[in-house]
Amino acid sequence: RLTLTRTARELHDAIDAALEGAGRGSRGLGLVPTMGALHDGHGQMVRMARDESDVVVVTIFVNPLQFGDPLDLERYPRTLEADVAMLRELGADIVFAPSVEEMYPDGEPLVWVRTGAMGDRLEGVGRPGHFDGVATVVSKLFHLAQPRAQVPYRAYFGQKDAQQLTIIKRMVHDLNIPVEVVPVPVVRTSEGLALSSRNQLLSPEHVQTALALPRALFALKEAAARGEPLDLEGADALLRSEPGVRVEYLEVVHPMTLEPLPAGSLRRPFRGRALALAAVVVGGIRLIDNMPLQGP
Ligand code: PAJ
Repeated sequence: RLTLTRTARELHDAIDAALEGAGRGSRGLGLVPTMGALHDGHGQMVRMARDESDVVVVTIFVNPLQFGDPLDLERYPRTLEADVAMLRELGADIVFAPSVEEMYPDGEPLVWVRTGAMGDRLEGVGRPGHFDGVATVVSKLFHLAQPRAQVPYRAYFGQKDAQQLTIIKRMVHDLNIPVEVVPVPVVRTSEGLALSSRNQLLSPEHVQTALALPRALFALKEAAARGEPLDLEGADALLRSEPGVRVEYLEVVHPMTLEPLPAGSLRRPFRGRALALAAVVVGGIRLIDNMPLQGP
């Protein structure tokens, strides 16, 4: 039932075939972009797309444009066979796993999507150009998987990568891309650690240490829900006092623009919405996490 496609042409043909005869009343196409090495966080996105769509397309492409470090790109896990087996199990219809040459036949593109200030802060500080690379490839994938039939078109992105999700939503808005972006809640272990391919590399002791990250974020979420001022410095100090944790950043930003909230507003009773994001290094592994904040 699952069709593996490797070229834009094969993808188009597979989508056309899957949507043949679809019209009014069709639940349309759900797109799940990934870089493979799939875990249950990805699985959750596919399950959600499966529940809501007639045709589920999963893309697997390790995108060179979003890697600054060539070694990091080279070392990124590539597990296509296991990924395809998992996607078959989950009931995906089409996998698109193009080569680098298929995606970038002329080498690096001359024209990119520029994410500006939204892409320069937080994760962007240590990875200049990363989000331009993400936005550029995601824009290509949106066009490549766009159904020709007049049916709903949705794309699923994890809240795990909140900055990425916020930038993609804004790109779709700013560039009028005809797709609906659907956020997928973070999948966590029973202890609270967000699933990622990297946290699988943590030793059991380091997992215990790393739990300080979700704990700090949940504490901010609870303070926000109670309408208390957010003690960001306290949360930061608490995180830093944990032996074995190196904090790269802990910030509270506007949930749509990613601009830092003015320090003064943190000292007032919390109202409205915000987003808390953090990156830490534990046992040599860099972990990111975030929490939407919602006032009373
Ligand atoms: P990748 O890291 O493979 O992640 C693919 C999608 O899975 C992202 O939308 C990410 O937020 C989501 N995801 C990862 N872990 C999750 C978790 N624990 N809970 C919920 N969702 C989770 O993100 C990328 O690939 C790339 O940048 C991509 C968008 C594919 C562009 O190249």
